[in-house]
Amino acid sequence: MRDTDLLAEALDRLQREFAALPAWTPEVPGEERMAAVLAEAAQRLGDNFPYFHPLYAGQMLKPPHPIARAAYAMAMWLNPNNHALDGGRASSRMEWEAVREIAAMFGWREFVGHLTGGGTLANLEALWVAGQMMPGKKIVASEQAHYTHERITAVLRLPFASIACDESGRMDLAHLESALASGEVGTVVATLGTTGSGAVDPLGPILDLRQKYRFRLHVDGAYGGYFRLASNLGDDAARAFERIAEADSIVVDPHKHGLQPYGCGCVLFRDPAMGRWYKHDSPCTYFTSQELHIHGEAPQAGASCGVGSFAAELFAEGSLHLGEISLECSRAGASAVALWTTQRLLPLVPGGEFAKELEKCREAALRLHSIISSDTRFVAGPAPDLDIVVFAMRAPTLTESSRRAQEVFDRAASRDLHLALAQMPPRLFPGAGWTDAGEGRMVTCLRSVLMKPEHLGWVEQIGERLREAT
Ligand SMILES: Cc1ncc(COP(=O)(O)O)c(C=O)c1O
Repeated sequence: MRDTDLLAEALDRLQREFAALPAWTPEVPGEERMAAVLAEAAQRLGDNFPYFHPLYAGQMLKPPHPIARAAYAMAMWLNPNNHALDGGRASSRMEWEAVREIAAMFGWREFVGHLTGGGTLANLEALWVAGQMMPGKKIVASEQAHYTHERITAVLRLPFASIACDESGRMDLAHLESALASGEVGTVVATLGTTGSGAVDPLGPILDLRQKYRFRLHVDGAYGGYFRLASNLGDDAARAFERIAEADSIVVDPHKHGLQPYGCGCVLFRDPAMGRWYKHDSPCTYFTSQELHIHGEAPQAGASCGVGSFAAELFAEGSLHLGEISLECSRAGASAVALWTTQRLLPLVPGGEFAKELEKCREAALRLHSIISSDTRFVAGPAPDLDIVVFAMRAPTLTESSRRAQEVFDRAASRDLHLALAQMPPRLFPGAGWTDAGEGRMVTCLRSVLMKPEHLGWVEQIGERLREAT
């Protein structure tokens, strides 16, 4: 059955839900006119890289699962708004259920959290709460953390500092500890799956530092969070994921590895009482949830309320408007419907179908890394923690290596192999021997994100085309 047949069947079922209403047909422009405009749009969309194809192995782009596409499109017939129950009653409950499953994947049963427009918004909310809990204190993240952390802290007017990474692209613990020793740090962002190379910061040792220094720990798992379910990670990464439940907040993006259309991030807080920071009045949109206003004031910095006192209770009884615990107002109910449906089909459990597909991505990355390591024309970067491979071109100088990377990138694209370019510290390529790799310089290297399980069946072909392009 094609996606479109699945959708047609689901839409019929949805329309039957409203069959008791008097018949009414909306007025829209004629089908021919709409078909012509759609055809024009389809033609315009041809000016894209083929993100769905296994030979697209460049940036973080993964096609949504067919069921997510169908569920999203079906929900668009109603276009619910998950800001308030009045705008999206069913889809708000589906959001709560889907988010609860994501939290359970990390080992949290009691928490507060919701979907967001994406990873940036989700991290913004986590750092906004962190700033409230640790007023005036610095937020630190590795130099390989997503660039938006620094920008978010500027928006929030919070001080920010970057911590150097080691040769694996992970946060360097000695640098982190010297920053903590200054007493100025209030929040550490640990990235489990950096954007550049998929490196997993050493979460365990970072958490251990909390015995000596007081700080909040935020995990940015926007990219890598779902690898909590993978059983084929290296020891270091596996140990990091095992301790993820000890974080204060976690971000994970269903629109990256969660098979969802764009517009779907997720932020979670371990302490449900963090929901109180969102307290506000919106008299025109909330009709049913009175409890929020009775529950009182926001907590003092550093304070923690009893579990179950706030959002968890309201969620449980189905009377919480999600707009009461999120910074955004309107949010697509369709995102929640798509996510709920996908998780219903592919539950987030270790050993399940979803987990196995992620494992294939990591396997593909290990194979590509080994293909690259065995070819002397390349300088392989660190062994992949997840499913991203970075590699530089062998050359006497960093300048020449960067030039060659650009050349190979272009030639690979002309052979329908789409890779990405990235700027990395030369430290990630200790065997390169570049004579001009001075302090502060970056090398342009090649990067391949193997986030489609199909990549595993195509990795030899990817290697072949790469060799031809070199
Ligand atoms: C680790 C990490 N954090 C945050 C983000 C930002 O997410 P979004 O693009 O969904 O806003 C990204 C995006 O690639 C990311 O890789």
